[in-house]
Amino acid sequence: MARDLWEENLSVGVDVIDEQHKMLLSRLSELSESVSQRRGSGQIVGTLSFLSDYVDFHFGTEERHMTANDYPGYEEHKAAHEEFKRTLKRLSDDFEEEGATTGLADSINTLLINWFLKHIRQVDQQLGRFFREKGVDVTAESE
Ligand SMILES: [Fe+2]
Repeated sequence: MARDLWEENLSVGVDVIDEQHKMLLSRLSELSESVSQRRGSGQIVGTLSFLSDYVDFHFGTEERHMTANDYPGYEEHKAAHEEFKRTLKRLSDDFEEEGATTGLADSINTLLINWFLKHIRQVDQQLGRFFREKGVDVTAESE
């Protein structure tokens, strides 16, 4: 069983976003575990491909509501999302080329998991506060 990374103090105060963060953290944790234990590549490829789609979906939810509500920190926040997507892509390429190395396992822990936890605490919680103060109804569906 992969480590549960979610803690109540990670809540941004918006249920839809918290649920997406829980999903992402649980799949990132699973990825970390399967790479460090060198599980079959099918499982790792499957998790990477799920993450690549889900990250687009999740960042899309946040970005759509930021632009719709003229969020002042949009550009910076969007740039952070792009950085994460690039890192995920790069690590997926690394996995394809070199397999489950210890370097990859370390990068997943620092560049994906720690990055994401820090992003929630420093960037998403601020966004969550903005949505709550504005009374924005955050929904997951794209229009
Ligand atoms: Fe975000």
